Amino acid sequence: MSNQVEKIKELIELRAKARLGGGEKAIDKQHAKGKYTARERITMLVDEGSFEEIDMFVQHRCTNFGQEKKHFLGDGVVTGCGTIDGRLVYVFAQDFTVFGGSLSETMAQKICKVMDLAMRMGAPCIGINDSGGARIQEAVNALAGYSEIFERNILASGVIPQISGIFGPCAGGAVYSPALTDFTIMMEGTSYMFLTGPKVVKTVTGEDVNEENLGGASVHSSKSGVTHFTAATEEDALSLIRNLISYIPQNNMEEAPRKACDDPIDRIEDSLNEIIPDNPNHAYDMYEVIGAIVDNGEFLEVHKNYAKNIIVGFARMNGQSVGVVANQPKMMAGVLDCNASRKGARFVRFCDAFNIPLVTLVDVPGFLPGTGQEYNGVILHGAKLLYAYGEATVPKVTITLRKSYGGSHIVMGCKQLRADINYAWPTAEIAVMGAAGAVAVLFAKEAKDKEDPKAFLAEKEAEYQKLFANPYNAASYGYIDDVIEPRNTRFRIIRALEQLKNKRQTTPAKKHGNIPL
Ligand code: HXC
Repeated sequence: MSNQVEKIKELIELRAKARLGGGEKAIDKQHAKGKYTARERITMLVDEGSFEEIDMFVQHRCTNFGQEKKHFLGDGVVTGCGTIDGRLVYVFAQDFTVFGGSLSETMAQKICKVMDLAMRMGAPCIGINDSGGARIQEAVNALAGYSEIFERNILASGVIPQISGIFGPCAGGAVYSPALTDFTIMMEGTSYMFLTGPKVVKTVTGEDVNEENLGGASVHSSKSGVTHFTAATEEDALSLIRNLISYIPQNNMEEAPRKACDDPIDRIEDSLNEIIPDNPNHAYDMYEVIGAIVDNGEFLEVHKNYAKNIIVGFARMNGQSVGVVANQPKMMAGVLDCNASRKGARFVRFCDAFNIPLVTLVDVPGFLPGTGQEYNGVILHGAKLLYAYGEATVPKVTITLRKSYGGSHIVMGCKQLRADINYAWPTAEIAVMGAAGAVAVLFAKEAKDKEDPKAFLAEKEAEYQKLFANPYNAASYGYIDDVIEPRNTRFRIIRALEQLKNKRQTTPAKKHGNIPL
């Protein structure tokens, strides 16, 4: 065997060894938990045969606690690039088979390298987390590594899309990298995220809680809003990431890819002409409206289980990716509260950062009143949504379906917050407040002197209703550009988006604004 052939053989053997990560035993252990390995996950995530691995021969440099005797090629993370539907993406997947995927100094360097490449190439960065946290033997070097990653997460924010999959443990300060990224997907049953685990919680607060109830997928998707998506299987999670990528551009200088549209753009939806109940206190399902107007009814909902009184997500209209924000009358009458405001604001800001037009469907009775909301800072949270809409320069089309009252009217993409096209259905009610509330404020004193105060107030309510419970008052001032037939909504939005496709709008030069966090 020639020298060269021998060296090639050695390379092949080293590659095979690296591909085994922590070894067959550790891989079997991973599989036994119903989990895939880092390389298996990447293979399922990217287009077949597209993965180019880098830094396969990187090894840790730690000599504490006998670490010098334990080496695994590639250390605890697999990194590289591939394509999703032919579009470049950078990927890192923590390898739990190597020291439980715990983060070493060299592992952090590998992750930072792909993040830097993603930034330089203007391509999304997808990280799959499955790790025991900082590599304990490496002490401060592991902490420094996390800090390097966080700094890159921050600098990449708003420049390239960043997506985090949580496919196993993610605890301690490690949670902050996913938290800094744009979207997080958690595995149901096999993943958790928390700053301090159950044992520490018990010691410090005496509270008894298990991992799932402290930081499982259901907790973070419904209670905290930390995760945007959950998935029952790893296959589902990876396919969800592929789907998500299809709606978003490669970077902040590009637009989302357009998909050929086989759904007629002038499709008339007669059902929308009858969807609003006669009784203003009765609800209807906003999902039906969204499904009726977007291409083929396809809607990728974000934060589905969190603050269900507002709906946000991606869809396409005539093949163009749009961000949909809609009040849900079926949930708490579509009222805005702290969580709904935060959810909406975060989504609007993502769309604005990445050139995705916003379609807003309004049916909002107001902000939720009460001490619960005020003590939790609904003023600041509502201001976030207001800020996000007012700051956004992407094309903005707002359709008012029914109620649009007071502060919540302003917040939900009104004309003066630089919305471009504002349409209303004939059922729209755009006013400072609902009729009963308004009449109580204006006529309570006068009513007392009347023979029949109730009848007097009812009469005034009817008068207010006639005057303001319609879209024409707002339209008479040009705050509504047109009153449209509900069944034509799809067509009218598509035409509006077509009109706005070359929209350019700037905001005053500044270092950055001071969003009310
Ligand atoms: C080094 C680690 C490790 C770590 C796990 N391992 N976590 N090695 N540093 N942080 C090793 C284990 O020793 C074991 O090695 C292998 O990985 C698999 O771990 P198991 O415990 O056998 O797996 P499992 O039973 O599934 O439990 C997983 C686990 C548990 C829940 C994650 O390992 C665990 O509690 N690890 C410690 C978590 C932790 O406290 N991390 C530090 C958090 S502080 P062998 O050789 O036996 O296979 C932190 C600060 C970050 O992260 C701050 C950033 C700013």
